[in-house]
Amino acid sequence: HPHFAYRDNALFAEDVRTSELAATYGTPLFIYSKTAMLSALASYQRGFEGRDAQICYAMKANSSLAVLQVFARAGCGFDIVSGGELERVQAAGGDLKKVIFSGVGKTRTEMRQALAAGIGCFNVESEAELDVLSQVAVAMKLRAPVSIRVNPNVDPKTHPYISTGLKGNKFGVAHEDALRIYQHAASLEGLKVVGIDCHIGSQITEVTPYLDAMDRVLDLVAAIEAAGIALAHIDFGGGLGINYNNDMPPEADELWRQLLAKLDARGYGGKKLMIEPGRSLVGNAGICITEVLYLKPGEQKNFCIIDAAMNDLPRPAMYQAFHAIVPVERAATETAGVIYDVVGPVCESGDWIGRDRVLDVAAGDQLAVMSAGAYCMSMASNYNTRGRAAELLVDGDLARLIRARETAADTFRGELLMP
Ligand code: LLP
Repeated sequence: HPHFAYRDNALFAEDVRTSELAATYGTPLFIYSKTAMLSALASYQRGFEGRDAQICYAMKANSSLAVLQVFARAGCGFDIVSGGELERVQAAGGDLKKVIFSGVGKTRTEMRQALAAGIGCFNVESEAELDVLSQVAVAMKLRAPVSIRVNPNVDPKTHPYISTGLKGNKFGVAHEDALRIYQHAASLEGLKVVGIDCHIGSQITEVTPYLDAMDRVLDLVAAIEAAGIALAHIDFGGGLGINYNNDMPPEADELWRQLLAKLDARGYGGKKLMIEPGRSLVGNAGICITEVLYLKPGEQKNFCIIDAAMNDLPRPAMYQAFHAIVPVERAATETAGVIYDVVGPVCESGDWIGRDRVLDVAAGDQLAVMSAGAYCMSMASNYNTRGRAAELLVDGDLARLIRARETAADTFRGELLMP
């Protein structure tokens, strides 16, 4: 992680010493590198050079307003999945025409909100949703721009909870039904068909599933256009993985070099492209600093109890995910260390952050949980009435607070006592 590296045994975020940030802002503390975000984005931009392409950051990965601002200012649109995310785009000054709205369960209220905002496209996931969206648009005397999410039925070879392009999951419409559903969409008064989309899963580290999905989608593009329905854009979703633990995903520009070669070979090189990357733009642009509270040796396991927990970093509990855990200040001379399970204070056995990690630590030391920029703060909860952590955005030698630490009072704001 070039933007989070040691200098004289101290972990830096760009040009800022992270231990100093932790001393000022307390722990747990998320620290993001703006340069890391922009360099991840630059890899996609290089890949799309000379093409008509729109990058819509899948903001569910990290929807903090200042993070959205970074991407909005760099020209990105946003892939949203709720009315709440739309309001975040508005609050961050994003371009609403570059917003696409994904998700299987959009409510009528959310549809109205997005139509009124003038978003670029609804990525519709079922026939029933098409009918409702058309009704809502007609009532507003508008036409909703739509793309239909098709299910290419390819195996992204990732964790089952984050694999979405296979038959038998709730997303998208089946390949076999796609043409008929497009014809239905084209017949509805409140809709304007503008594109086609797919998304096959997340944390994908191989190119082949993408190439297979592209083939399947292009087969449909051919069939749909042959039926007289023009598709102005093709949206290939997100899903590109990051390096958590010796994972070796392709670089975004390398992935797109191969995908664009296929697109060109099949004669669709001139089509407008859209993508919806989330994790690959922010995942390795963030870390979470935590303090060791207690060391608890045991007969079977040694526990390293830290002040961050599953409510801050839910991915290990939810997906058995691996995050590297490293010291914030490294000992000058290396020692053997002790094997620990690194766990949080939450009252659940599932509240672990790392298992069987070799660490040379004492109570009061600080650790950095790496690759914490995606699906950490955006999935954080207040379980055990723990306020959510503070967030900082580093740019060079400047660190700026972008989210204040939540107080207990913040966590029960809106709750009412009985008379
Ligand atoms: N587009 C759609 C329609 C999606 O459902 C997703 C993610 C993305 C784009 C962005 O995918 P990405 O580029 O981030 O892989 N919480 C899980 C990941 C859930 C992904 C959900 N959908 C995790 O922490 O691993």
